[in-house]
Amino acid sequence: ASDTVYRASTTAPVNIAVVKYWGKRDPKLNLPTNSSLSVTLSQADLRTLTTASCSASYPSSDGDSLLLNGEPSDVAGARTQACFRELRSRRAALEAANPSLPKLSAMPLRLVSENNFPTAAGLASSAAGFAAFVRAIANLYELPASPSELSLIARQGSGSACRSLFGGYVAWRMGDKADGSDSMADQVAEASHWPEMRALILVVSAAKKGVSSTSGMQQTVATSGLFQERITKVVPQNMDLMEKAIKEKDFAAFAEVTMRDSNSFHATCADTYPPIFYMNDVSRAAIRAVETINANVGRTVAAYTFDAGPNAVIYYLEQDTEAVVGTFYHVLGEIDGWKQASLKGLKPSMSLD
Ligand code: PMV
Repeated sequence: ASDTVYRASTTAPVNIAVVKYWGKRDPKLNLPTNSSLSVTLSQADLRTLTTASCSASYPSSDGDSLLLNGEPSDVAGARTQACFRELRSRRAALEAANPSLPKLSAMPLRLVSENNFPTAAGLASSAAGFAAFVRAIANLYELPASPSELSLIARQGSGSACRSLFGGYVAWRMGDKADGSDSMADQVAEASHWPEMRALILVVSAAKKGVSSTSGMQQTVATSGLFQERITKVVPQNMDLMEKAIKEKDFAAFAEVTMRDSNSFHATCADTYPPIFYMNDVSRAAIRAVETINANVGRTVAAYTFDAGPNAVIYYLEQDTEAVVGTFYHVLGEIDGWKQASLKGLKPSMSLD
């Protein structure tokens, strides 16, 4: 019937990079200047839930729409439009090949999306958001698309989103084609390969970040001298070392690459003109706390990393929970700003699956 409402829902988790994506070689297609690698935080604590629906009864004058955390959100942006276009054209191809299918591609789409964590607080909300957005519509359209193919589409919404289509340890291969057809994600290892891995999230500030990742990247590519060294030498080496560390479940190696890569990324930000600072004094206190913990234990049991904001993500292994989480509360409890920070809502610790 013409008033049938077709509907599909999905959730997508946040991912936190241990080798960072920072820099676009093609801003329109979201093609990166370097490959990256992340860990997907699959536990239901940090995720976007999205429902996509379409119906011939939705007034076409409404167009496509998105309700994000209860508020109407703009879908006119080029990145969102690219996702709609890619998904619709794949559905239209299915419909052309099979005329008995309902013509969903011609109907307005309505998306309803909820994050259960602060939006744009440096917690990769765009990654979970676009991953859920793309998969919800792909499910609605019954597209026979693999996670890698969906990652190609999600990448055009937000680069880091391509990695949230997989669980576990995920690489986004930069590719070298001008049309971006080889710039997609693949899984390096399942979460179950290293079940002891944990992430502690320290919410230093839940406020919206100051410099968006898009403009931060643009400024870094345009003005940082260090950046060339990072994309040609530092990151390719970190990618190799990181994949090896994950395959061998070598936490000390995983941790060193994670911390070095975060430092390298933030160094290129400080090297732009004018400089960009994402970390603040509380962030730096978290770095010193990790160093203190590792020195006290006498081996590397914790690794910090920071995205485009002040919040810290600390990776550690289950067996070292006491040393890492216990010490963190003890050390940071005495630092100004931290008490408040630790009260800001998120559960401090979560497993990855
Ligand atoms: O996907 P974007 O455009 O929000 O950029 C993400 C950039 C970092 O989070 C800083 C690094 C990464 O690889 O996720």
